[in-house]
Amino acid sequence: MVTGNRHKFLEARLILAEFQVDLLQVDAKRLEIQAEDVEEVARFSAEDAARRLGGPLIVEDAGLFIHHLGGFPGPYSSYVLRTIGLEGVLRLMKGASDRRAHFKSAIAFCEAPGRTPRVFTGVVEGVISKERRGEKGFGYDPIFIPLEGDGRTFAEMETEEKGRLSHRGRALRKFAEWFTRMYENI
Ligand code: IMP
Repeated sequence: MVTGNRHKFLEARLILAEFQVDLLQVDAKRLEIQAEDVEEVARFSAEDAARRLGGPLIVEDAGLFIHHLGGFPGPYSSYVLRTIGLEGVLRLMKGASDRRAHFKSAIAFCEAPGRTPRVFTGVVEGVISKERRGEKGFGYDPIFIPLEGDGRTFAEMETEEKGRLSHRGRALRKFAEWFTRMYENI
């Protein structure tokens, strides 16, 4: 998995272990295009990474889409976190009654240089909390409450619990089901 984000890698490794798929992290810079959807970003990055590093590999791109803000920050999620941060997002949400949001993850798998990547997506619906809660996880985890949970934010959950509900978990399980079918005889 080509990523500089150790949290992402550890989440992914735990999920793929359920399928007896072993994952290694390559902390190499990946080219990231600016595009409206995470699938396109992940596909481009995987193709580029395979060209430079060989394959097989996966790359993930994710974003947080907040309804009240018309889907913002979406593809700008990392920029927004780096600039206005969680406090800035909470300020933008002050007084909002519609606090719905979703995370979307796209996992792109590229087998070898020159091969077309295959993309798997996962979504988790939730709401933006009124204040930050929890110390676990990363990124927007302290302000995201998944609807299928018990009211805790992702940052209040263990990695395994988050993985059962998360966008990343869902995308990775789709990938792993396909991957283990394709490669079961290898
Ligand atoms: P990227 O996929 O690393 O480009 O993620 C975009 C932004 O969304 C980054 O700021 C991440 O920290 C944040 N992000 C991605 N996945 C998650 C997650 O599972 N929880 C919280 N924040 C996330």
